[in-house]
Amino acid sequence: MRKPIIAGNWKMNKTPEEAAELRRALVPAVKDATCDVVVCVPAVCFGAVKAAAEGSNIRLGAQNVHFAPSGAYTGELSVGMLKACGVEYVVIGHSERRQYFGETDKTVNLRVKAAVAGGLIPILCVGELKDERESGYTDAIVEYQTRMALSGLTAEQVTNVVIAYEPVWAIGTGLTATDEQANETIGVIRKAIGRLYGAAVADAVRIQYGGSMNPGNVKGLMAQPEIDGGLIGGASLKAPDFTAVVRYDA
Ligand code: PGA
Repeated sequence: MRKPIIAGNWKMNKTPEEAAELRRALVPAVKDATCDVVVCVPAVCFGAVKAAAEGSNIRLGAQNVHFAPSGAYTGELSVGMLKACGVEYVVIGHSERRQYFGETDKTVNLRVKAAVAGGLIPILCVGELKDERESGYTDAIVEYQTRMALSGLTAEQVTNVVIAYEPVWAIGTGLTATDEQANETIGVIRKAIGRLYGAAVADAVRIQYGGSMNPGNVKGLMAQPEIDGGLIGGASLKAPDFTAVVRYDA
């Protein structure tokens, strides 16, 4: 059985002071969660979140990582830097990075490999655009992105990667894939992993749904057999909403 994992993606929101609120608002509320709980926060909030979540079941995540260990890469952060701040998870290949910051399947793969080699758990995002879905290319796109991103990893390493299926048209739009659409496409990703790395890996790897997941739709999505959690943007910014998502089964 795969343990569900629910991760908040704060994107470019919250100051360290606002982040520290999590101790009062979120730590007690999610302490009995049956799933793994992660918050992927802006780097300026690492210290505040680490301190606020001390001793709790909330794990710290980042929103990107560079693939070089150090060097002349202005504005970037390395795996070693993230680890030194207590980061355990890192979102890689988010569609906002792909759309606005020139992220490609190639650089996603470099980041995934560096993260895994350095002991961070990638939350690898894949997903189709609206017109790709409408023209029937969803399966081909998510398979291709998944295959490219994981290229060069061993089966054992892939087992530990978390994948987030995020249809781009559902991110921050209030539109959600139906329970059946999300389940079906995650099934496609799992089958592709099975073909590449074997049935045991496909069975073990956790695949989240992301795209306007919220307290109102989480139960239906999480009831689907292929869906192992969520990557939550907007609804992760307010502690009561994120709590309701994390405690979908309470
Ligand atoms: P959303 O964002 O929940 O606001 O749609 C999800 C994401 O981008 O990870």
